[in-house]
Amino acid sequence: MNVDLKGQVAVVTGGSRGIGRGIAEALARNGATCVVTGRNTQRLKEVEAVLQEIEPTCRGAVLHVEDMAEVAAFAKETFGDLGRIDILVNNAGITDDQLLLRMKEEQWDRVLETNLKGVFNCTKAVARYMLKKKYGRIVNISSVIALMGNPGQANYAASKAGIIGFTKAVARELARKQITVNAVAPGYIQTDMTEKMEDKARDAILSLIPQGRLGRSEDVAGAVLFLVSDAASYVTGHVLNVSGGLYI
Ligand SMILES: NC(=O)c1ccc[n+]([C@@H]2O[C@H](COP(=O)([O-])OP(=O)(O)OC[C@H]3O[C@@H](n4cnc5c(N)ncnc54)[C@H](OP(=O)(O)O)[C@@H]3O)[C@@H](O)[C@H]2O)c1
Repeated sequence: MNVDLKGQVAVVTGGSRGIGRGIAEALARNGATCVVTGRNTQRLKEVEAVLQEIEPTCRGAVLHVEDMAEVAAFAKETFGDLGRIDILVNNAGITDDQLLLRMKEEQWDRVLETNLKGVFNCTKAVARYMLKKKYGRIVNISSVIALMGNPGQANYAASKAGIIGFTKAVARELARKQITVNAVAPGYIQTDMTEKMEDKARDAILSLIPQGRLGRSEDVAGAVLFLVSDAASYVTGHVLNVSGGLYI
């Protein structure tokens, strides 16, 4: 899919690898100035170099999404430097799996803080600048696990389901200001996150995916490109599953 994003500024959280990196590359290829964020400086440097080959105005920035003050300062600085933030992709996320009775409080808190509070922090911080321009596209990366559940992922499923409720509420709040807010719910995508899976678990999952393959970052990036494009200007509050049919 080709979209004209020339002159637009996009922030992609967790863009240093995996799905976020795929999304950032796709946005840059379509002309956007991408600011990718993550925690790991070395990885950010590498992805920044790759993105600058595509679109020289792209850059990487360290950002811990769970830290509200850090996020607010980052949004202010980005808007100050680049003069606009048109697109926000809330992609940063983690898993820390455990069956309910063995799950520690810290495991619950860490996953909720990164995955759900992180989306709140970034959306709140960036939305104020989108409101100034009366334009914005916010895409939150949820998961089909929010819709299906999965043993051992109560914390992750709750965080990703929370993102869907958040998306729908904020979509209603911002609709009149030409800001759309949507979610993408990927199935199993080949990244470091799914690399941890044992072969037996991977085979079991493959047998449940009607298309018979794991997804790629590009599959998710395609859905994001659509949601930030003019073609989707009347789409808000929607959850777009990208799962090869795993969840229908
Ligand atoms: N892979 C899947 O099958 C799948 C399926 C459904 C949904 N998702 C969702 O898609 C998103 C990306 O997943 P992925 O598979 O690409 O994951 P990944 O390869 O593990 O990458 C995670 C990214 O998030 C960043 N990150 C993690 N914690 C952070 C924090 N506290 N503050 C800022 N950045 C943080 C990481 O930065 P560093 O590199 O600096 O650590 C990295 O860039 C996640 O929200 C995930 O839940 C993934």
